[in-house]
Amino acid sequence: MSDSAQNLGRDSAAQAGAIRALIADDDPAIRLVLRHRLEAEGWHVAETADSGATLEALRGGRFDVALVDIIMPGAGGLEVLTAAREEGCATPIVVITAASTMNNAIEALKRGARDYLTKPFENLDLVVTTAARAAETAAQAAELERVKNELGRTLVGGELIGRSPAIQEVYKLIGRVVSNDKIDVVLISGESGTGKELVARAIHFSSRPRQPFIPINCSAIPHGLVESELFGHERGAFTGAAERRAGKFEVAGAGTLFLDEIGDLPLELQPKLLRALQQREFTRVGSSETQRLEARIIAATNQDLEAAVAARRFREDLYFRLRVILIHLPPLRQRREDLPELTDYFVAKAVRDMGSLVTAVSPEARAKLQAYDWPGNVRELENTVLRAALLAPGNTIRADDIIPARSPSAPAGAGDAESAATDSFATLIARRVAQHLEKANGEEPRGLYQKLVAEIERPLIEQTMRRAEGNQVRAARILGLNRNTLRKKLVDLGIATRKLPFD
Ligand SMILES: Nc1ncnc2c1ncn2[C@@H]1O[C@H](COP(=O)(O)OP(=O)(O)OP(=O)(O)O)[C@@H](O)[C@H]1O
Ligand SMILES: [Mg+2]
Repeated sequence: MSDSAQNLGRDSAAQAGAIRALIADDDPAIRLVLRHRLEAEGWHVAETADSGATLEALRGGRFDVALVDIIMPGAGGLEVLTAAREEGCATPIVVITAASTMNNAIEALKRGARDYLTKPFENLDLVVTTAARAAETAAQAAELERVKNELGRTLVGGELIGRSPAIQEVYKLIGRVVSNDKIDVVLISGESGTGKELVARAIHFSSRPRQPFIPINCSAIPHGLVESELFGHERGAFTGAAERRAGKFEVAGAGTLFLDEIGDLPLELQPKLLRALQQREFTRVGSSETQRLEARIIAATNQDLEAAVAARRFREDLYFRLRVILIHLPPLRQRREDLPELTDYFVAKAVRDMGSLVTAVSPEARAKLQAYDWPGNVRELENTVLRAALLAPGNTIRADDIIPARSPSAPAGAGDAESAATDSFATLIARRVAQHLEKANGEEPRGLYQKLVAEIERPLIEQTMRRAEGNQVRAARILGLNRNTLRKKLVDLGIATRKLPFD
């Protein structure tokens, strides 16, 4: 593996400089041994010998990790721990406890210690790895906070990411539409996955947020039903029209009607849509009464409508009416300068929404993202990055974790392995729901919620336990579960666990 960030694991805390450790123990011999060993690792070491001085040192917040003896002159290590936590001290604390007082270790973990070490030290390497890991987890938590804050800011901007000149043109056009309520027809064009629906929503929520946003996919409605879907129908208007029904035009009110895949609108309906746009009125099927069209119409297409007009699949007059305000979304390969920001945004999304622990993207991974052509555009990038963020074994996304959905290096073969590479989490869940429904042979399935939650719970807990190297306390902390809750789930799910000494 060529990635320069591959060693991020244990070295991350040290990257900005040496790890700063505090050794708090009243036994000078212990302090000497520990100092000697940690300094040999290149760490900066400070010492304290009683509870008061230890708490004072922790208050300064200058340490990446503190090794604190439980039995010390003064209040003792456990009290130091409690006081430090209550004062909001973020330094991770590893307690040192004599083997004979193992109950103290449990108590210490309850009070927020990151880990514990037992005296006498049989293996000083274990001291180093335990302390380094504690420092690293704290550094990660801080980084996670930073990423989340960053994300909070971008969300206010409306979730449209990118600063390339090409996308700035798009922002300008959105701005023009949003600030002019008279612009009531907009056409958005662009390849699949370039963000057409996102732009439609951005326009809607920036200009008519309190009104309905009604999306309708013209290619997904059976041919004969499109008219009634759009305009509604009167009772008895056609066979099967048992009740009077409002169409999407009516439901949209003074909001936005998003006509997706407009290129697939049946030819015979195109004059009706044109009339609605020009007269600003429409009629329900089977009615003679006209209704006012208040909604803004945003149409979207990934087809070349001009070619469709030439082929007489799309009426020219409707095309001209729709394209008065045309927003064209450039394919991602024509705005590669947006890749870093988009990538960071999707990583942050994986962290916020899916519990990914990734905090960095290696330069080699970024180079791979830059080199790829992205035929599926931002959607493909999003799925690729989310997948990498969920499956990366460490905290860094490496080049090997990047498997673009449509690239030749994507896992071969149909089936679940491949779909896992291309689908978002929501899509995977949707497929499982559909499978459960199909299995039920027309009968209503039962207990679907429990079944699906159970399906998610097992891999979630297993993978977290693996990342926590079998340490239940750490796994519980990562998951945000009470340790007893986690232990019960491990038993219930029959997941094998490493025995802790005080279990
Ligand atoms: N500029 C962007 N910033 C952030 N996310 C984006 C951006 N553009 C697209 N996305 C995301 O990419 C995904 C695809 O976008 P969207 O559904 O709007 O594409 P589309 O053009 O409508 O595609 P299709 O033609 O296949 O329907 C969505 O998850 C969307 O949030
Ligand atoms: Mg779309």
